[in-house]
Amino acid sequence: MLKGVNLYLIGMMGSGKSTVGRLLAAQLGYGFLDLDQIIEQVSGQSVADIFAEQGEAHFRALETQVLAAVSPYTCKVVATGGGVVLARPNWGYLHYGIVVWLDAPIEVLLKRIEQQPGKRPLLAGGDLRDRLQELLAQRSFLYDEADVWVDASADEPVEVARLTLERLELRLAEDRPAVRDHQKN
Ligand code: S3P
Repeated sequence: MLKGVNLYLIGMMGSGKSTVGRLLAAQLGYGFLDLDQIIEQVSGQSVADIFAEQGEAHFRALETQVLAAVSPYTCKVVATGGGVVLARPNWGYLHYGIVVWLDAPIEVLLKRIEQQPGKRPLLAGGDLRDRLQELLAQRSFLYDEADVWVDASADEPVEVARLTLERLELRLAEDRPAVRDHQKN
């Protein structure tokens, strides 16, 4: 269906990028990569420790490096970290593939994040709902640059994966006439 083109999942923390990404990879016969996990492997530190010891700017630089290293690969579903959309150069890499925004309301994000406490340095301290709302307000126009939007609020990750494939198919079908026209000229 995707002819080897990578799929990049973007969206807020708690939107299900890693869980849904694994399911999508299995269904597409693709490999699965998780940018945060690769950053942890190459740096030998957890994301939380990188933020605490070297700061966010250092984490963002690693994030761009890892994204750049991943982009020449084909046949991959890539789960990104929620802040990957912030750096403009990252979009140059993301747009090598198809970018999918897993979007879910704050209530849903909150519920999922509360099940994994302490993992996310940007949410440490203060009111979790306020912080999430603030980050979403700063980022939603960037997430909106995705090629495909998916409602990721379903409780079951398999349902979100199913919806993603459905939306992708629709999007690819929309693009087909343009490709034909282009070939004719
Ligand atoms: C971040 C999201 C995290 C991780 C880091 C920063 C963000 O990834 O990259 O804590 O800026 O939203 P997840 O979206 O996988 O939680």
